[in-house]
Amino acid sequence: MYFSLPAEYRQASDDELQQRITAARQKLGKKLCILTHHYQRIAVVAHGDHVGDSYGLSKIAAEQKDVEIIVFCGVHFMAEAADILTDESKNVFLPNPLAGCPMADMAEMADVMEAWKFLKPFGGDKNIMPVSYMNTAAGLKAFTGRHGGLICTSSNAAAAIDYGLSRRDKVFFFPDEHLGCNTGIAYGLKPEEMVLWDFSRENGGLTTEDIDRARIILWKGHCHVHTNFTPEHVREVREQYPGVKVVVHPECPHEVVKLADVAGSTRFIVEFCRDAPSGSTIAIGTEINLINRMAHEYPDKKIIELSGQICPVCANMYRTTLNDLAYTLENYADIKPIKVSEPTRSEALLALEKMLEIH
Ligand code: 13P
Ligand code: SF4
Repeated sequence: MYFSLPAEYRQASDDELQQRITAARQKLGKKLCILTHHYQRIAVVAHGDHVGDSYGLSKIAAEQKDVEIIVFCGVHFMAEAADILTDESKNVFLPNPLAGCPMADMAEMADVMEAWKFLKPFGGDKNIMPVSYMNTAAGLKAFTGRHGGLICTSSNAAAAIDYGLSRRDKVFFFPDEHLGCNTGIAYGLKPEEMVLWDFSRENGGLTTEDIDRARIILWKGHCHVHTNFTPEHVREVREQYPGVKVVVHPECPHEVVKLADVAGSTRFIVEFCRDAPSGSTIAIGTEINLINRMAHEYPDKKIIELSGQICPVCANMYRTTLNDLAYTLENYADIKPIKVSEPTRSEALLALEKMLEIH
């Protein structure tokens, strides 16, 4: 997809863009709600009505009553979820249409259908519950809803796994193998009770015995931002900063989570920084824009990026600029909103509502 802003917006200075965004917000008043994900640039977050993680923002979207326009500064699957959770009269806009999520793209409908077909003889709907990470396309959320499953985010993955395993023998978790594995281990499962479905191999690279013994079937997908963190990074930061608290996102590999002081969702990390005593040193394994904003908000604490070497930026979150936001606010009437059509919408809604219920 090719996307380019008109020159007027590409060439405007930051000052001009700030003024135009502020004026457009004033003009639209209560009709407008701007949601900004924690990984957005600080300048974009500054113009949001709300900042949050994917769970918090989808809940806020669902609660909107008088709003007509929701501008979601995040990535595509988040805007889709907001559209599904709001009534038809509301239009959701993604300021940069190229902002996707490579992890979400690792689970394609045809591949998931093939896996589900393979899993059918093991009990299908009766025995296996699909639990889909929020980072999926709407079609897969609909698949999940159709089969009695639910959506989770990193902030409620434990509750979602518990919901699945207390009702059915197995959970089919996609697309993040690391979030699934970390959550399964925290739930008390042994590593051998989790198997990895590799969609590039015949039958996922699994045997009948593998599926028989599995409680969680994990999809072989990952986030390239969080899988950059290594156990070495944790060891090095501890050497360099004695007493440092290491906090990582559960999309990091288990070897990293195991060595960290604590692992938790984006919201957990934000609250951890807020609640840490003044003077503490905190090394964070997650997206750099969130880390920088935490360091900026809490200058009395030393808040650093865990690796000290890589720059863990989510390029897709970073795509959204003040230029995109100004363009969207001034031209929304001519921009195609994100719309999920039926029956995908209703089926995905079942799975999303279950997520909101269990939290
Ligand atoms: P949250 O669900 O914590 O907002 O994170 C979404 C995400 O894409 C993390 O990489
Ligand atoms: Fe997707 Fe990773 Fe970016 Fe999150 S940080 S939106 S999982 S690519």
